[in-house]
This record gives sequence, C-alpha cells and structure tokens, in this order.
Amino acid sequence: MKEPITASKRGETQTFHMIRRTPLALDETAAVASINDLNQLLADVMTLRDLYKKHHWQASGPSFYMMHLLFDKHFEEQSALVDLIAERIQTLGGVTIAMAPDVAEATLIPRAPKGRENTATQIARLLHAHEVILLETRAMARDSAANGDLGTNDILVSNVLRTNELQVWFLAEHVPCKPICDEE
Ligand SMILES: [Fe+2]
Repeated sequence: MKEPITASKRGETQTFHMIRRTPLALDETAAVASINDLNQLLADVMTLRDLYKKHHWQASGPSFYMMHLLFDKHFEEQSALVDLIAERIQTLGGVTIAMAPDVAEATLIPRAPKGRENTATQIARLLHAHEVILLETRAMARDSAANGDLGTNDILVSNVLRTNELQVWFLAEHVPCKPICDEE
C-alpha cells in the first residue's frame, strides 16, 4: 500500500516541543510555561468532552432522556473549551496536542471502561474528571497571572474554570445529599 504523501516526516514544519516566537510582547519563559500547562489541560478537557459523549450515547434508566440531553449540552460546552485552549496554544507559538493516542497518553483522568455504566457511576466519573480539571486550572491560572500571561489567565478563569464549576453544579444536584446537608 502506498504511503500518504503528507505522512512524510519532512513535511513536519514544527516539532511538538518547538516554540514559534510571535511578537506578543510576552516573555518567552512565560509563553513556554503556558503552552505546557495548556497542553496538559487540553488533553484533560478533550478526555472529559469524550466522556460526556460516551455517557450521552450510553445513558439509561428512568432519567434517560434528561441525562441524554444534559450530557450532550455539556459535551458541546467542553468542545468549545477545547477549541479555545487549542487556539491559545497556537497563538502562543506552541503546537497543540490533537490526536487520540497522544491525548490518552497525557491525560490525568482515569480511563473509563468500554462497557456501559449506570447513571450514578457515570455522574461520579464525570465529577471526578471535573475535579481534576478544576484543580489544575486554578493552579495554572495562578501561575499564568504570576508570569504576566493575562490572556491565558483570562481563558483559564473566565472560560475553563467557570464552565466547569457550572457543570459540576448541574451534575452534583443529581447526587443525594450527604447527611451533613440535612442538618439545620
Ligand atoms: Fe446525539
């Protein structure tokens, strides 16, 4: 079988760890730190996005229709974040993680089984993935502010953090309250 013409290594114009300097008036060390952080975040957000689509397809039980719709709404919102993060990486002169094997290698979110899970397990898995993302996003937001990369900081806080916090609210409302919540 013939090799695709574009698969040649000679066609690679920027390797993954190369930085293309652009006139952003931003310190190179700050740009490199943001690119590395954002690629980690991108892998995790892509994984959460795909987890939402898996759960959208595999929803079940009495709440099927509601969860089917909610999971797809969150999928769409995570997809928007993926594009925002990826294009910020390119703006900073980096190269985005893009393909599934690279994402699987990089993500900090535990691998989900191929099989179907019940609604409570789906929600618990999603909430854990959100926590991974929220934890790293807050740390990355603090670092980007300290480094003077305010454009990245704005995306992290205004888009990634707030979208994920809101989605956690919508998911967590489906989880029965722990006894402490019922105390007067
Ligand atoms: Fe669908």
